[in-house]
Amino acid sequence: MLKGIYPGSFDPVTFGHQDIIRRSAGLVDELIVGVLNNKAKSPLFSVKERVRMLNEVTKDMPNVRIVPFEGLLVDFARRSGASVVIRGLRAITDFEYELQMAQTNHKMEPEIETIFLTTSLDYSYLSSTTVKEVAAFGGDISQFVPEFVADCMKEKMNLKGECKL
Ligand code: PNS
Repeated sequence: MLKGIYPGSFDPVTFGHQDIIRRSAGLVDELIVGVLNNKAKSPLFSVKERVRMLNEVTKDMPNVRIVPFEGLLVDFARRSGASVVIRGLRAITDFEYELQMAQTNHKMEPEIETIFLTTSLDYSYLSSTTVKEVAAFGGDISQFVPEFVADCMKEKMNLKGECKL
């Protein structure tokens, strides 16, 4: 049984992430979407909210599980019994950081391989950061994220409270 991990911050999940999740799920028997709970950063959405949004986005994908994690990705992969880490590559600008991360992870845990999926052309420009920026200035983000994520985003930005998704 081949288990893969697609790790990320997902703050928030975009159509680009959803596309990579769907395509990765077709490559492995089980795909774990690892949601980083990074206490050093202050994300817009709590890990609980990000997990809920991802569960909604992947509800028609039976072999996908959403799991929050802290600490090193390789430790999480080992604990989960995953042998493959999957990352999306949008453009050459992603490459340097991704290469460094993949090689560091491989040095720490040679049994775990990182594989890259190139992002679909439709989403190659898309990032959670730009989505947040557009939303912060009241722009329409409906073409970047699923509708309920856009609603959540509005709620978050207007009320600064927890998203009731
Ligand atoms: O969506 P992101 O923010 O690009 O995802 C980055 C992520 C979560 C994959 C990366 O920051 C990570 O794996 N963090 C866990 C800590 C870790 O293992 N660091 C060592 C890799 S160099």
